[in-house]
Amino acid sequence: MADDGATIEALFSEGRKFDPPAQLRETAAINSPQIYREGEDYETYWATQAERVLWRRRWDRVLDWSNPPFAKWFEGATLNITESCLDRHVAATPDKVAYHFEGEEGDTRTLTYRDLLGEVCKLANGLSSLGVSKGDRVAIYMGMVPEFPIALLACARIGAVHSVVFGGFSPDALADRINDAQAKVLITCDQSRRKGQLVELKTFADRALENTPSIEHVVVVERTGNAVPMQTGRDITYAALTENQSAEREATETSSEDPLYILYTSGTTGRPKGILHTTGGYLVGVATTHAQVFDLRPEDVYWCTADIGWVTGHSYIVYGPLANGATSVLYEGVPDYPDKDRYWSIIEKYKVTQLYTAPTSIRTFMKWGTEFPDRHNMESLRIIGTVGEPINPEAWMWYRKVIGGDRCPVVDTWWQTETGNMMISPLPAITAAKPGSATIPLPGIGADIVDDSGVSVPLGGGGYLVLTHPWPAMARTIYGDPDRFVDTYWSRFSDPANGLWRYFAGDGAKRDEDGYYWLLGRVDDVMNVSGHRISTLEVESALVDHPSVAEAAVIGRNDPITGQAIAAFVTLRSGIIGTEALILELRDHVADKIGKIARPASIVFTEELPKTRSGKIMRRLLRDISEQRKLGDVTTLANADVVQEIADRANSMK
Ligand code: WTA
Repeated sequence: MADDGATIEALFSEGRKFDPPAQLRETAAINSPQIYREGEDYETYWATQAERVLWRRRWDRVLDWSNPPFAKWFEGATLNITESCLDRHVAATPDKVAYHFEGEEGDTRTLTYRDLLGEVCKLANGLSSLGVSKGDRVAIYMGMVPEFPIALLACARIGAVHSVVFGGFSPDALADRINDAQAKVLITCDQSRRKGQLVELKTFADRALENTPSIEHVVVVERTGNAVPMQTGRDITYAALTENQSAEREATETSSEDPLYILYTSGTTGRPKGILHTTGGYLVGVATTHAQVFDLRPEDVYWCTADIGWVTGHSYIVYGPLANGATSVLYEGVPDYPDKDRYWSIIEKYKVTQLYTAPTSIRTFMKWGTEFPDRHNMESLRIIGTVGEPINPEAWMWYRKVIGGDRCPVVDTWWQTETGNMMISPLPAITAAKPGSATIPLPGIGADIVDDSGVSVPLGGGGYLVLTHPWPAMARTIYGDPDRFVDTYWSRFSDPANGLWRYFAGDGAKRDEDGYYWLLGRVDDVMNVSGHRISTLEVESALVDHPSVAEAAVIGRNDPITGQAIAAFVTLRSGIIGTEALILELRDHVADKIGKIARPASIVFTEELPKTRSGKIMRRLLRDISEQRKLGDVTTLANADVVQEIADRANSMK
């Protein structure tokens, strides 16, 4: 677990509690605790919530759970997700703004629902002209520009399955994901902007495309317009593809269970998992939770600062807000460009009412100081949310006070790529919040905390977080690997012989006397760095891939800003000398193999790694060394003497 005992104890002595503001209790659409009771009959509850969505044909059955853990929601129903997200708003409020786009350089673009539908249809027609049809996979590798959500929606318009790869991933990582999904088309940008620099997306994509035989065409959005290599016959600019296309396109009818997208996430093995989400249930889940948790109102201006490359962007920049007809801010860049008040200036400029961001950002803002938020009027804010990792009570309090003006409820939302939507979170007009706790499961969601043998732990205790019954937006499978889906999430705490199915999230948690959940971090080999999931094994494989490296062990050590930081321990091949230059080279090598987010913060060379007699690397011990804890019992180690040596080296590097 990421936290040590002291942190857990500190959390439990956290006694502060914040009731929903009186005015919000009166005015919010969801303001009666009755909704939690309604959620207990979860099939009926979700069928009621399904009224938020525009269906073409209604379902015959709400849930088919006859072949667990493979769920089917709203069986027999048909829809096209873009009709819920676009057409019905164009019919009702065509001039309402869907996205206020803010470029990093200060350029802006406003897209109304009518504009957005037109753009989506043009690209959908363009993709069809390239031979993309229902069920085909389209890879998307872009910066945060308006064409990014347009690309997702254009795929959905024609029933194609999008597979977004975060723009910070390396060519190798992109190629692996394209190949796993067998994508036919790639949509990318010439370049993207980040912190005043240009990121060579097309050049990276070209490197990936050397090893991706399934790709037939590449669509290139000209974000900067600088010359980039284009391969005749394969590559086409977005402008050339769309300019002569009609701004209308009949939406392809899909079944509720047709795939909507694949999104890769790190697991406990080196190979990323393609999480598959389907259409009807996913839309019901994201629309419901987005409306409820943010108390969304027609006049709101909502802003989620995530990148669409992650699930948070899929669910809470694209599908949830658009299904609800929201006006959102879409920001291209980083929080400190041109200065450290960029977020706060955006909030003031667009009069943002809901902000949804990550604990790692909040801790960074704390470090920068109140001078930056103090420059701006942020009285428009009503509700402020966090996601991605546990938020420590100090950061929570700072967020509430400095950003939320001591008036906005903080919604700490726990969920995962696999869950599709928020699972544990306060409802801002109903649930009292405690700093550092995601509070209680949302209506219609079942959770529990169990011990090693799967027995529910009484209030006050800790263990493994499990989800106790299906929910509409749950992942349906791992693309192309249903056995891995069962093994990873459902085998550990289920008892199929007795009809008991429980989803294992991979997180540790405690529950206090009020039944509030306190998330404690991953219990598997997945690190959480700045809210991003990275597998220790993936980084180890990247290190071992370097010709100088014999063996590597990687752990996530606590870090005050990023939550965890990647610490690597490396043994070199004989004859290779461990120099500072080699450390740099290895860090860059990992960045090249996976992406900059996976670059180790520290690398320590060691003659040997501490191993048990059965040859298992003692990661726990490496974590203790990295976090300078007193070393526990090492007598089970085969090579106990290496531990002191590693500790000495690690310390000499500080
Ligand atoms: C962690 C992001 C504590 C957790 C939506 C989970 C959190 C993983 C929280 C999923 C939170 C996310 N409190 N931990 N509010 N939100 N996590 O798939 O470990 O990128 O399993 O989805 O992030 O990360 P993912």
